[in-house]
Amino acid sequence: MSDIYDILVIGGGPGGYNCAIRAGQLGLKVACIEGRGALGGTCLNVGCIPSKALLHSSEMYETAGKDFAGLGIKAELELDLPTMMGAKEKTVDALTKGIEFLFKKNKVEYIQGFGKITAPGKVEVDGKVYAAKNIVIATGSEVATLPGIDIDETRIVSSTGALSLSEVPGKLLVIGAGVIGLELGSVWRRLGSEVTVVEYLPHILPGMDGEIQKQATRMFKKQKVKFELGRKVTGVTKTGSGLNVTTEAAAGGKPKDIAADVVLVAIGRRPFTDKLGLDKLGVTTDKRGFVATDHFKTNIEGIWAIGDCTTGPMLAHKAEEEAVAVAELIAGKAGHVNYDVIPGVIYTNPEIACVGQTEEELKEAGIPYKSGKFPFMANSRARANHETDGFVKILAHADTDEILGAHMIGKGVSEMIAEVALAMEFKAASEDIARTCHAHPTCSEAVRQAAMDVEKWAMQM
Ligand code: FAD
Ligand code: NAI
Repeated sequence: MSDIYDILVIGGGPGGYNCAIRAGQLGLKVACIEGRGALGGTCLNVGCIPSKALLHSSEMYETAGKDFAGLGIKAELELDLPTMMGAKEKTVDALTKGIEFLFKKNKVEYIQGFGKITAPGKVEVDGKVYAAKNIVIATGSEVATLPGIDIDETRIVSSTGALSLSEVPGKLLVIGAGVIGLELGSVWRRLGSEVTVVEYLPHILPGMDGEIQKQATRMFKKQKVKFELGRKVTGVTKTGSGLNVTTEAAAGGKPKDIAADVVLVAIGRRPFTDKLGLDKLGVTTDKRGFVATDHFKTNIEGIWAIGDCTTGPMLAHKAEEEAVAVAELIAGKAGHVNYDVIPGVIYTNPEIACVGQTEEELKEAGIPYKSGKFPFMANSRARANHETDGFVKILAHADTDEILGAHMIGKGVSEMIAEVALAMEFKAASEDIARTCHAHPTCSEAVRQAAMDVEKWAMQM
């Protein structure tokens, strides 16, 4: 066999490892280069998986303390944080090792070290040069920082530090009411922290449907999360064992200080391409540093890019879709990603899930639409489970009835959104969901009832 790889993938996250596995399945000679010492990228090591592990265990802790007694279950409660962290680490470890197994199974070579593209078709790792017909950049993203606020990962932390705190902070101040701020803020609030979230915009969760933003704000406030909306953090100073956070109104004005034990900086992420040598090669990036692509191709022949280091939602499943598509395109197949149907989920309690367009986007685009909505309060399974907060909303084209978007808030909606995503992939009408038999009693009946409500014949409210 030739020493020249069909594909050298740089980065072993959801973009990189899925690209390598799909290429292996298609019979291509492929290697994946990863510099962090473990496969799985941000997602498995310091992102999706450890955060969901802590969201799960902290939710169980809170439920046991808050709801068990009312259900007739008596339990003595004590938090054992080291064991909780250990369980999270075991999950991470098993999953990252699982990718090594999948690499072997699909004949993917795993090269450990940081890769630098020295020329088209050439990647250097620790002094050794590898040759390939195609290079796929899948180097992901890193935490965005605030000028003058130095992250030490113990008291001033990014998401990475917030996933490994050794004790529950008395007061946690979160900068940014986006996905990370609300998920990790929820973890530490459930474990006992007083949580304040400072957000630059006048509302939380930018980009989400307006009704969801409002309902989510109400629900988080009910859980005693404090919001400082329309404010920015201008500085953080260490005061003995504590921190003093200076804030002011977004538009400027009188400063207001807030005391905290730990500050979590969660103001977004930026592409990570530092070690690749892109400048020298002349690979085009946009002004925010994202690698510019057209159907995953960069401006240099044979160099492709996918995942968080390119534009679009910074989501593991978006990276995975692009990974499959690029491997298939290189193998001469018709790889394709439908960017209109990429669900987004926030794993708080209640969960928040969306797919497609928001009402605000439809209004702005002048697309005529109908809306159907159904509250979990009227769903029998949600009532039986005592989990009645939230609703499902479905948006469909006013003339064709094609589903254009779905927005949900409530327990378990992370699983329910897949039904609507599948329907949208098939270009289904809301009536298709409304006339699909759903098992009873299930929370997903709320999806059906919301679809019925598009034509105003929901029968259970
Ligand atoms: P990454 O996962 O960042 O992987 C890139 C890899 O490339 C890294 O391992 C890096 O070490 C390696 N690398 C970089 N440069 C080089 C080089 N020169 N040579 C070799 N290797 C290199 N998304 C979801 O969809 N759902 C979630 O629930 C979710 N939760 C998240 C929670 C947190 C706290 C965070 C931070 C993110 C979360 N995300 C979630 C986002 C998700 O992690 C990313 O969208 C996803 O990991 C992007 O995949 P990627 O392959 O593009 O990049
Ligand atoms: P984000 O973009 O979701 O939210 C950042 C928030 O910080 C925004 O609301 C923004 O207005 C605010 N902000 C920015 N600068 C500020 C300032 N100076 N002061 C106060 N507020 C400020 O970014 P986040 O939460 O850091 O997440 C990064 C990425 O990780 C997201 O793109 C997300 O897609 C991904 N992620 C996905 C998860 C999921 O799918 N469940 C979970 C966690 C992360």
